[in-house]
Amino acid sequence: MTKTCLVCNAAIDPFMSFGQMPQANGFLLPDDFQDEYLYDLQIGLCDQCGMVQLTERVEPDRLFHENYAYFSSISTRMEAHFEDFAADVMARYVPKGNPFIVELGSNDGILLRHFSQAGVRHLGIEPSANVAQVAVEKGVNTRCAFFEETVARDIVVEYGQADVVMATNVMCHIPDLDSAVQAIRLVLKPDGVVIFEDPYLGNILEKTAYDQIYDEHVFYFSLTSVQHLFRKHGYELVDVAPQNVHGGSMRYTIAAQGQRAVSQAVTEQLAWEGGEGLTCRETFDAFRRRVEHSRDALVKLLQRLARRRARVVGYGATSKSTTVTNYCGITPDVVEFVSDTTRGKQGKFTPGAHLPVRPYADFSANYPDYALLFAWNHADEIMAKEKEFRDAGGKWIIYVPEVTIL
Ligand code: TYD
Ligand code: ZN
Repeated sequence: MTKTCLVCNAAIDPFMSFGQMPQANGFLLPDDFQDEYLYDLQIGLCDQCGMVQLTERVEPDRLFHENYAYFSSISTRMEAHFEDFAADVMARYVPKGNPFIVELGSNDGILLRHFSQAGVRHLGIEPSANVAQVAVEKGVNTRCAFFEETVARDIVVEYGQADVVMATNVMCHIPDLDSAVQAIRLVLKPDGVVIFEDPYLGNILEKTAYDQIYDEHVFYFSLTSVQHLFRKHGYELVDVAPQNVHGGSMRYTIAAQGQRAVSQAVTEQLAWEGGEGLTCRETFDAFRRRVEHSRDALVKLLQRLARRRARVVGYGATSKSTTVTNYCGITPDVVEFVSDTTRGKQGKFTPGAHLPVRPYADFSANYPDYALLFAWNHADEIMAKEKEFRDAGGKWIIYVPEVTIL
């Protein structure tokens, strides 16, 4: 069956398939192993608009619901990131008077709570009831819904149009992106700005970070593809800023065409993308070969350690690691369990690979020989706090950008 681009409808030929995959955040109990939902994880590049995207998708209401496993407020580094983000938006884009700001996919309120504390009128739209409830308890005004045109119209009736629409790690989750931009257009003031950040295609390619590819990440944005998408709706990029979170993200600031000056960062980054071939098929064929090489190296290493009867434990039951464990065929006889601090994941099993997820205490009370760092995007923070594991002779295994023992 021909695949078509979700943004411009052109035909897409996937450049890579990872095979059958479970839901990245579908932690489960043994009773449910039998009925585990699987889909074909494939990714393609649209030649017409440059958008890199999944060519098979899981329906959003299967992913984001009242038992969503992911809480944004999981680390001090991320708390600090969102505090800085809020301060920057407040200083640059929130006008005086009676401003109003909207956040799409506001999760547990990690970003909006700063606006709430500053007394700024705000509204978070969050489809997963459990995380939305946590935000409400923090005093963040939250509506439990998927953001779409009808919701946008209701917001305008109730609050008026917004000065700023923000989204972090959310835009890339929305399959019907064109309609989402249309809905943003309804909710945003003509002189307002859209600010969002998501994992950046440039970093994914540069680091061979193939574990960013999973069901929730429908799109892998570049400036080129984001510019194309928003231009269709009368907007343009006015600023971009790389962010050292989630393994390399980009923050995009967008305004109505001609409304604001375009920063030099936009021009420079677009030129960089041209030089890197971010819209060329060959770039992605080379990426696929690097991914296959990375998988082979990790499998070989884990098999070698298993033969030596070394104990290997996973660190962080991340969504990303679902792609790694399933694509590399990692089983409980090579990785004993995965340590994770999220209560809702503990006692369950990882999607597809069915590695047990255990509380952090199981890691710290009995250090393994090796910790496989599934949460590599938090490497600095984790390695700094796990000095004792190192001192006890423990070693880290990482696989981004390359399979290495540290
Ligand atoms: P995250 O890095 O946000 O990745 P993803 O988007 O791929 O899910 O998730 C981090 C996971 O790792 C989360 O389940 C919490 C866990 N974690 C720990 O167990 N210990 C830690 O020190 C950190 C930073 C995270
Ligand atoms: Zn397209």
